[in-house]
Amino acid sequence: MNSVSESFKNNPLHFKHIIPLDFNTTLTLPDSHTWPLSLEPIDSLTHVQHEAVPVIDLTNPQAITLIRQACEKWGVFQVTNHAIPVKLLNEIEFQTKRLFALPLNQKLLAVRSPEGCTGYGLPRMSTFFSKFIWSEGFTVMGSPVDHACQLWPHDNANFCNVLVEYQKELDTLTEKILVLMFKSLGLTQEDVKWFKPNNESKPPQAVLQLNSYPVCPEPSRAMGLAPHTDSSLLTLIYQNNTSGLQVYRDNLGWVPVKPITAAVVVMVGDLMHIACNGLFKCALHRALVNKTHTRISIAHFYGPPRDVKISPCLKLVDPDHPILYRPVTWKEYLDAKAIHFNNALELIRDKNNSGCTHL
Ligand code: OGA
Ligand code: NI
Repeated sequence: MNSVSESFKNNPLHFKHIIPLDFNTTLTLPDSHTWPLSLEPIDSLTHVQHEAVPVIDLTNPQAITLIRQACEKWGVFQVTNHAIPVKLLNEIEFQTKRLFALPLNQKLLAVRSPEGCTGYGLPRMSTFFSKFIWSEGFTVMGSPVDHACQLWPHDNANFCNVLVEYQKELDTLTEKILVLMFKSLGLTQEDVKWFKPNNESKPPQAVLQLNSYPVCPEPSRAMGLAPHTDSSLLTLIYQNNTSGLQVYRDNLGWVPVKPITAAVVVMVGDLMHIACNGLFKCALHRALVNKTHTRISIAHFYGPPRDVKISPCLKLVDPDHPILYRPVTWKEYLDAKAIHFNNALELIRDKNNSGCTHL
């Protein structure tokens, strides 16, 4: 069992936090989904944004420097020229739309179990809020075949092939970006010994999450995905050409991550923030919905191998940058997140930290 399934098994959910609304037949926003909000329409430009989420061309010779700046300032950026074939991006978008377009009773054939982590259902964060979010998800770890057979007993080969290919490509891209990030911090392979992408006995772990944000009758009072940071090392998100994803920046507020054709969004996760002793931000982000277009996104969460303790890299610790966090495995961190949600990071703060540089 890997870290994610083990943690989710230990923290089961009630079905009311798993089964989404039938969005196709819901014509007004129910009270259960009405948040105490009054959001501006996503695309309105009532306040001019002076700063935008960086877009980095991975073939730019300056990419390493730009990545470090983006991670320190934003904890998020978009990449272009990333070598993922556009055809594959179009195919995964098509298969994601195909899945969520199924009638609810058919999607429920692959519903996530209360102790499970894969299959169809509401994102896990639902349990932390009294109001429900306006989205549905489908989670895959490893092979998608079992759930795909539940959805389409005879016609699942294309879906599976596309997802498997996508997982492979995204693992490779994530590892490439992680290498650039470590280099940007002056870290060598020796400094990050736990990062061994091709280690067959201790492989890195990844989760693929397909998200759908259906059109919403009253988007200004609905929430697609509530503000959160990701528990991963790094999350790569492909979004269709519909706005909705936003990141929070102190003094700027919520800033849109504008859809760019064929670009991929890179989000620094909590574990990476820990590994670089807080030097890279883990971006608080949320997703809003709209009245006219279904938004889809495909998030690929990449984490360390099972049982690997992630701790602040010693090279990044000095009297001016005292150690901030205690060592933690992905499983331990997910357990903390399952109970404390956005406060989990605060909980693993190194309480002994008084400016000294011990580990
Ligand atoms: C997530 C997430 C953003 C999006 O799945 O954790 O942040 O745009 N998704 O759907
Ligand atoms: Ni997220």
